Order: sequence, then structure tokens, then C-alpha cells
Amino acid sequence: MKYLFLIIGISIGAIANAQNGEELFNASCVACHTIGKGRLVGPDLKDIHNKQDTEWLIGFIRASQTMIKEGDSDAVAIFEEFSKIAMPDNDLSDDQIKSILTYIENTGSGSLENSTAVKTGVKDILSGVSQENIDSGAKLFSGLARLTNNGPACSSCHTLADESTYNSGTLAKELSETYEMMGSTGVSGILKNAPFPVMNQAYQNHAITKEEVVDLTAYLRHVSEQRFYQHPQDIDVAFVGLGSFVFVLIILSTIFLYFGRKKEAVNHKIFSRQS
Ligand code: HEC
Ligand code: HEC
Repeated sequence: MKYLFLIIGISIGAIANAQNGEELFNASCVACHTIGKGRLVGPDLKDIHNKQDTEWLIGFIRASQTMIKEGDSDAVAIFEEFSKIAMPDNDLSDDQIKSILTYIENTGSGSLENSTAVKTGVKDILSGVSQENIDSGAKLFSGLARLTNNGPACSSCHTLADESTYNSGTLAKELSETYEMMGSTGVSGILKNAPFPVMNQAYQNHAITKEEVVDLTAYLRHVSEQRFYQHPQDIDVAFVGLGSFVFVLIILSTIFLYFGRKKEAVNHKIFSRQS
């Protein structure tokens, strides 16, 4: 009887632990990772416990960049594999990280198959957005509308294929395919807390609001879907075109003037000899 209580006690403890891990995972990791549903911004974490030991995982989850800078070969390898996208540090205790790992392990092996996050998926932040959100996102992107907390317009660093917005930034990546690559969770995760130092810095004291994250994500989805119908609004093309046109014009007029001059000179000689 004593043992039965003990077992029940342990099971309840384990469930509470897993529940907590699920909450932590949904709060801090789900933007970039899935468990068994494929790659997002970061790798699929299914069966991660078979790949690395707990100590390594705790170190990496808490401060991956520190491990990478220290030259841990596995950390460097996965960092390079993911195009050097920095995973943000997590201010979590060993126990909290262990409970996340327990949750990942159980979800991957199916025993938590019925947990809410797995059953319903995480609610897509883009469920229920309208054209209005997309328009608002386009204005925020190009700087036609100000971000609530005065962050810089995305277009000061990024371009994308949309002829209706003015965008000229060349510092950072072209964003037309981003949505297709990372989906709404990935894009919104980046907007909430960008794992890229330059962009993170830009919004550190100018956080993008929840509504703005939705609008911008909706806009990036729209751009990604429409990108094949856009004509590249590339100033360089017009520039080269105009340049070529002027060049041909100069050549033609040179030829024209050249023959014109020769003919005239000959005519003039003949004319004066005859007179
Ligand atoms: C902003 C995106 C982002 C968030 C949020 C994030 N990660 Fe990551 N994670 C990555 C990327 C990208 C990598 C690939 C390694 C790299 O680029 O540094 C990675 C790698 C990992 C790895 C190593 C996987 C392997 O195969 O070696 C683990 C484990 C991990 N993340 C766990 C977590 C956990 C747990 C959380 C939540 C507490 C979390 N991550 C939050 C982006 C993220
Ligand atoms: C100060 C410059 C700067 C500003 C402003 C900025 N970003 Fe970024 N962004 C970056 C840099 C740098 C990266 C890292 C990728 C790269 O090297 O281009 C990045 C990466 C991204 C990515 C991930 C792209 C990918 O495929 O990996 C997304 C999505 C993104 N930015 C969206 C936005 C949005 C939306 C805004 C406006 C709210 C914005 N950014 C404003 C500099 C900036």
C-alpha cells in the first residue's frame, strides 16, 4: 500500500513535470522548433535525447552562442548547418530545461500524443487575418506607417518582391521566400525576438507590438504567395536599359556624323575644283 502511494506520487510528479515542460516549450521554443513535424527555423527536436546527453543539451539551450564561441564541435556543426542563425539564450534553471527535455522525449515517443499542443497544433496567429492586416503590414514594412514603439521600418534593411511598396534596404536578406521557408510561427518568432544581432539591436527598445507582428507576418505571407506575379521593380534594370539606349544612340549618331562629314568634305572639294 505504501508503495502504491509512492508510485502514484511519482506519476503525478512526472505528469506535473511534463505539463510544465510543455508550457515552457510552447512559450520559448515553439516559434523555431517542432517535435516530429520537421525543420522550422531550427532543427526538429524529436529524439534529441538520443543525439546529445543531458548536460550538453542544458548548456546549449541555456547559452548556445557561448558554446559555439568556445568551439564545442557539435554546437559549431549544427550552427553552420542552420546557416549561422543564432538561437537566443534562455534564462532557465536546470530543472526547467530538464522538464522541457522530458516533454520533448515523451512527445517524440508518442506517450503524450494526446497533449493539447500536439492535438490541436499551436494556433496559427494568421487564422482570421484579412486584407486589412496585409495592407497595414505593407505600410509598416515600407515605413508609410510608423511602428507604435518607433522602431525602424523593415525596408531600411530588407527588400522583397512587391511592386506596390517602396523598399530599398540592402543590408539584410531579401524576404520574399522567408514565409515559405519558416511559416507563420517562424516569422512571428523572429519578429518578437530576432536571433540576429543587428535586427535584434534595432528593436531592443522599440518592441514590435503583437498586432504589428500579426500584420507583418500576414504581409510576408502575401508577398511570398504573390512573388511570382511581381515584375522585378529593380532600378538597376532600368538603369542598364537606359544606359544601353544612350550608348546605341551615341554610336548611331557618331556613324551618321562620320559619314555625313566625309561626304560633305568630298562634295566640297569637287565643288571647288569645278568652279
Ligand atoms: C529564434 C529561434 C529559436 C528559438 C526560439 C529556439 N531555438 Fe533552438 N535552435 C535554433 C536554431 C537556429 C538552431 C540550430 C543551431 C544554431 O543555429 O545555433 C537550434 C538548435 C537547438 C538545439 C540543438 C539541436 C541539435 O540537433 O543539436 C536544441 C537542443 C534546441 N535548439 C533547443 C531549443 C529549446 C529547448 C528552445 C526553447 C527553450 C529553443 N531551442 C528555442 C533556433 C531557436
Ligand atoms: C537594422 C536592420 C534591420 C531591420 C530594421 C530589420 N531587419 Fe530583419 N534582419 C536583419 C538582419 C541582419 C537579418 C539576418 C539575416 C541577414 O543576414 O540578412 C534579418 C533577418 C530577418 C528575417 C529572417 C530572414 C531569413 O530568411 O532568415 C526576417 C523574417 C526579418 N528579418 C524580418 C524583418 C521585418 C518584418 C522587419 C521590420 C519590422 C525587419 N526584419 C527589420 C536586419 C534588419
